[in-house]
Amino acid sequence: MTDNSNLQNIVFPSLKDRVIIITGAGQGIGRVFAKSFAMAGARVVIAERNEKTAAAVATEIMKADGQALAITTDIADPASIDEMIKLVEDEYGHIDVLINNAAIFSTLQMRPFEQIPLEEWEQVLRVNITGTFLCACAVLPAMRRAKWGRIINMASGAVSLGRPGYLHYIASKSALIGMSRSMARELGPDNITVNAILPGATFTEIERKTVTPQQKERIIAMQCIPRAETPEDLVGTAMFLASESSAFVTGQIINADGGATHP
Ligand SMILES: NC(=O)c1ccc[n+]([C@@H]2O[C@H](COP(=O)([O-])OP(=O)(O)OC[C@H]3O[C@@H](n4cnc5c(N)ncnc54)[C@H](O)[C@@H]3O)[C@@H](O)[C@H]2O)c1
Repeated sequence: MTDNSNLQNIVFPSLKDRVIIITGAGQGIGRVFAKSFAMAGARVVIAERNEKTAAAVATEIMKADGQALAITTDIADPASIDEMIKLVEDEYGHIDVLINNAAIFSTLQMRPFEQIPLEEWEQVLRVNITGTFLCACAVLPAMRRAKWGRIINMASGAVSLGRPGYLHYIASKSALIGMSRSMARELGPDNITVNAILPGATFTEIERKTVTPQQKERIIAMQCIPRAETPEDLVGTAMFLASESSAFVTGQIINADGGATHP
């Protein structure tokens, strides 16, 4: 039976002072996650390859009296991840949540798969799959020590649709679904949950060529809720998965796409 103090944590989950690493939080969805978690009192680590955007997001958060640490990190490089983890541990002493959000995404060009240069194919898999794997490995010692942890992998609803034009991206996000399930099985005994969020087409401040205006209209028409998805639409799901309320939810893929898909 759940005692009353734990019930309190479930009914009113607090993210206050939780240390939350969000990769690729310099723009787009990650940036909104960083601002939202900071608003909820968490200590947000912006682990982003772009030094300028990382610093800008941290400044935005701190100006609003939030706690943020920008660390220039390349998730394709194990040494860069190790350095980031060391800085986080030195600063905060623990790590509670990892959101594997960084990906090669908005810069991609749509093209038939046979025209994807091998170098680009390998780069996308390196960042989107291997980078996620490396970051998950790197947070484990701290989460195992605490016997508590949350890993959230940002996959994509495009996998359910088999969206054409960026096969390397689809392959990488499909991998994250399988990885989330297997990681969840391996880490359950350590009280670490692993789940994947599948956003629909989410419109951020970044212009991108992967969705034409006509495709945008078609995507919206597929959704149960017929309006464009925003990063804010993903915040509640991420916060639930990061909190005490989701303690027994693991190995799941959660579609947050306005009901566009029902896998
Ligand atoms: N926006 C959407 O429609 C959508 C839909 C489904 C899934 N997603 C997923 O959500 C996540 C965020 O999407 P977004 O729209 O904000 O993407 P985005 O392309 O705007 O942002 C990605 C961020 O990751 C960073 N990044 C790239 N490579 C990196 C590396 N090696 N190391 C560290 N940082 C790196 C980039 O600098 C950028 O700040 C991605 O994983 C994406 O695949 C997005």
